[in-house]
Amino acid sequence: MHPIGLYLHLPFCSRICHYCDFVKSALYTEEQKTFYLLSLESLLDDYLNVWKEIPGTGNESKPAFYSVFWGGGTPSLVTHELRPIMQKILAVTSPTAEITLEANPEHITRESVAIWADAGINRISLGVQSFHTAGLKALTREHTTEQALKAIDVVRERIPNCNVDLIYGWPGQTDADWIEDLKTLVKSGATHASLYNLTFEGSTPFARRLARGKMTAIDDDRLYGFYETACKILEKSGYIHEEVSNWALPDREARHNGLYWYGGSYLALGAGAHSYLEELGPYGLRWQQNGNWRTFVPESSSTLQGIITRKYNEIDADRDGEAWIMETVSSGLRTWKGISLPEIEAKSGYRFEPRPLIKEALERGLMRLDAERRLFLSELEWFRETRWSLEAALSFALS
Ligand SMILES: C[S@@+](CC[C@H](N)C(=O)[O-])C[C@H]1O[C@@H](n2cnc3c(N)ncnc32)[C@H](O)[C@@H]1O
Ligand code: SF4
Repeated sequence: MHPIGLYLHLPFCSRICHYCDFVKSALYTEEQKTFYLLSLESLLDDYLNVWKEIPGTGNESKPAFYSVFWGGGTPSLVTHELRPIMQKILAVTSPTAEITLEANPEHITRESVAIWADAGINRISLGVQSFHTAGLKALTREHTTEQALKAIDVVRERIPNCNVDLIYGWPGQTDADWIEDLKTLVKSGATHASLYNLTFEGSTPFARRLARGKMTAIDDDRLYGFYETACKILEKSGYIHEEVSNWALPDREARHNGLYWYGGSYLALGAGAHSYLEELGPYGLRWQQNGNWRTFVPESSSTLQGIITRKYNEIDADRDGEAWIMETVSSGLRTWKGISLPEIEAKSGYRFEPRPLIKEALERGLMRLDAERRLFLSELEWFRETRWSLEAALSFALS
């Protein structure tokens, strides 16, 4: 079987940030949180009981997860309560796995970090968002600049592998603010950086204010300028640009995220979580779990089919070769590893015949094809990858 990751979603937050559209809630009781964790554990048990039904597992009756990721919401709202489920997870996880927990700076103390480390967490992803007071205020965050800086130090004393999330494009942000944020991140010793441009999603307070003209978004050219600045500063500081929003120090690449970018398998547990198993069907199977955390775990099921198709889950059963090519091309072209044309051809039966725009991009050096026929897009184009992906995907034709 190919490497497989495990994602666990914890939808609780102490307060809601006005830009955030993830599955989360600030209205919950301690009992609900405890019940939710128990439900995650019982769902994990369900999957482990039917593991042999997954094609390609061979004689392995249990997985050896390649990576584990606790995302949210705010997983750092749980400390001791994580122990029982982590014990279960560690028993089915590779000893060399990357095991990440997403944390908010205001929850970092020596004690909380020690509890996570003792439970098996070996990587922390810190939601710093900005090192500027004005940025934290604009983004409606709970923590301060000092808390963010201190949090990185405290995490790294015990868990050296620490990612920092920053958001760029917040109202009022200047070029100088952004440069300073990037330099502070580098100085902090963060082993990984996830830099996201502020997006206005769904029915978030920010999106509503934008629609009412009460807030303005930074224009695309300025956003692109911020992106270009990040590319320059982080590369000069020794970070590898892995993916449009992600940079890593050597040997600190985000292994779990790599599964998302390169079509790997991951099992996702929790409200609204998306799973993908490439072993199920010619182009794999994607499904999303019930997005309501209050009802996400109903009765248990004793077959794989039963677990995947349980009430309120959404299954993407109609993906064909063309949809798979589009997905593979658009996510791979935004990475430093690009896409393997022979692998896509072998799996889909389509043949790559570059369309005129792709030929032109190759001639202009915006794209590159290596001896193994891997196709790469220049990193400065990753930010506006959409047009290239569409042309590259349409260059695959049935021969
Ligand atoms: C869902 S949050 C969970 C992490 C943690 N609760 C926190 O707030 O730091 C994961 C990351 O997504 C990013 N994010 C969420 N919504 C975003 C938006 N609308 N625009 C840009 N980045 C966003 C933030 O950088 C955040 O750290
Ligand atoms: S950004 Fe993090 S803390 Fe803020 S609402 Fe979203 S999940 Fe919760």
